[in-house]
Amino acid sequence: MNKTRLPLSQVYRLLEPGPVVLVSTAGPRRPDVMAMSWHTMMEFEPPLVGCVISGRNHTFDLLVASGECVLNVPTVELARQVVGCGNVSGRRVDKFERFGLTAAPASKVGAPLVAECYANLECRIADRRLADDYNFFVLEVVQAWIDRSRKHPRIIHHQGKGVFAVDGRILKLPSRKK
Ligand SMILES: Cc1cc2nc3c(=O)[nH]c(=O)nc-3n(C[C@H](O)[C@H](O)[C@H](O)COP(=O)(O)O)c2cc1C
Repeated sequence: MNKTRLPLSQVYRLLEPGPVVLVSTAGPRRPDVMAMSWHTMMEFEPPLVGCVISGRNHTFDLLVASGECVLNVPTVELARQVVGCGNVSGRRVDKFERFGLTAAPASKVGAPLVAECYANLECRIADRRLADDYNFFVLEVVQAWIDRSRKHPRIIHHQGKGVFAVDGRILKLPSRKK
């Protein structure tokens, strides 16, 4: 076996599941947007998404205060802005302005959509019982938007420290499951 020990601090890099998303929230002064890759699907319909948003992040406070956010799915063209949104806090900076992102009105929540993203999921908090101990929120998607004109959107997956895997080949196999 040609393997060496992997530091436990790096385990997440192997299991980090879905694409990196941008979480947008409404705020009293201005909206905020942060990068997030620690999320997981929990139910098909209504769609439930579990996610970890650190209590140190401004987004945590805005999400708890409003009960709402939007999960925006960026493609590789937005990778630099994603890293930017994941490295500065909206407490001090208007990230929409700094990173040239457009806040568009959502239909069911007060948080804005990030217009440049391939898809946008309007969410409300369904359960926050694990938020105090684990920063874990269960979000219910109440409205979803997608840009169907983009046939091969290349979404990005975080591998830690600014390294991303970019979606490429599509493999389509027969399956009875969704
Ligand atoms: C690729 C990437 C993924 C990230 N994933 C998460 C995450 O899943 N949860 C989290 O709390 N922070 C995550 N972060 C860090 C936040 O995006 C970062 O702390 C951000 O500055 C918080 O902004 P805010 O204070 O405006 O909310 C990630 C950062 C990057 C660059």
